[in-house]
This record gives sequence, C-alpha cells and structure tokens, in this order.
Amino acid sequence: MSQKIVIANWKMHKTRKEAVLYLSHLKPSPKIDLRIAASYTLIQDMALHPIHEKIQMGAQNMSSHTEGAFTGEVSIAQLRDIGADFVVLGHSERRHIFKETDEEIRAKIERAVVEGMPCIVCVGETLEDRNSGNEKKVIQKQLFIALNGFDEKHFSKIMIAYEPVWAIGTGNAATKEQAEEIHSFIKEVVPFDVKVLYGGSVNVDNIAAFLSQPSIDGALVGGAMLDVENANQLIENLED
Ligand code: PGA
Repeated sequence: MSQKIVIANWKMHKTRKEAVLYLSHLKPSPKIDLRIAASYTLIQDMALHPIHEKIQMGAQNMSSHTEGAFTGEVSIAQLRDIGADFVVLGHSERRHIFKETDEEIRAKIERAVVEGMPCIVCVGETLEDRNSGNEKKVIQKQLFIALNGFDEKHFSKIMIAYEPVWAIGTGNAATKEQAEEIHSFIKEVVPFDVKVLYGGSVNVDNIAAFLSQPSIDGALVGGAMLDVENANQLIENLED
C-alpha cells in the first residue's frame, strides 16, 4: 500500500525560532509522507533543517506571475530559491477571506503545472451549498475550472484536498462516510489518477478513521498539528 500523506497547514502561525524548535521535536514516520505548509518567512530556515531529508516543506500560496511589478507577491522562482518543495493553492481562506476567484486559482495552478512545482489544490463546499444539496455540483465546478485541459503528466504534480468550508477550524469534521462519498466522486470526475486528501477539523482521534477509507489518501491538518506533541501523537496514531 502506498504511504498515506499528512500535510500540516500552519496558516499564519510561528516565528522562525518556533518553527525550528518544532522541527527539532518532530518525529516523522517512514510510513507517512509528512509535509508542512508554512508562511513564506519560515520556509528557508525549515528547508535548511536536517529533518528536510525526511519531510517536505511548502508554501500556502503564490503568485500566478513569474516576475515584475506585483507588490507583495511571491513567485515560484522565489519559492524554489528558499527551498519550497510544493505549494497549497485555493485554500478556502484564500477563496473566502481574500476573495480569490476560481479563475485566479486556475492561473496559479497553471503556473505551478507549467513550471513543474507540485501543488495541492483545495476544493470544498460551504454549509449553504451542502444544506441545499449542491455540494457535488459546487465541487465539480471548482474542479473543472481548476483542472480542465491538463493531461496525465500534469496530474502527476497535482494533489487535491477536499476541505468542506463548514468543517475547517470548527471542530465539526465531516463524517468519514461523508468524506469518502466526496472523495470517490472527485476520483470519478477527475480523468486521471490523483491523490485526494481530506481536511477540516482532523485531529488525533479521528485521523485514523479518515485515512482508513478507500478513497482518502491523506489529510490536510490545521489546528491539530500546530503543537508538535499533538503532531507526534497524530503520527503515532497512524502507525498501527
Ligand atoms: P483545521 O484546518 O484542521 O484547523 O480545521 C484545516 C485547513 O484549513 O487546512
């Protein structure tokens, strides 16, 4: 069986000192493909840490442009320069707080794909979408705009994260059945083999159940992996 993937999304947390201290206490497992998505300011120090041989470090966003007059933005070349291995694109906080549109996210994915930067593409419905029975329609539209036209070679650099907006940071995770249903739908809709991660209130107690589902290849974890002891517990709970 292939390794399960666990990506910690640190969001806007930690200083460089805190990040490096975390890495010195982190206990990766050979059974898990472990990665951390961190703020731009942390990535270089993290990439230089010896633990980088065992886990990957990535960014939480990037520009769709290569270079130029884009104040405040960060390019792929700049990400590569500081040692980033991957980038998370279209996280619901980017979509909802910063009003990134499906088209802007598509442009970022296209840039990542063209330049061969592995990316995690996030999709997910709001509570309103789910309550009105539209979750699959919404996810299918997000996927279509994000990924239409890419071929098998491009898909080898892309992973999808299914993160229902109502489950992110709320403590109200999807059930494993709800997640499995959407994951198998995503795998049906996407024309090539793709890994799909679940995100939204994953914690030490529920991660093993999610990852035992046939269509769930891994997890994108926010709050529960901010503390390194919790992160170690979560990894340990997956090892059995
Ligand atoms: P959460 O966040 O685990 O704190 O719900 C997940 C995410 O936003 O990726």
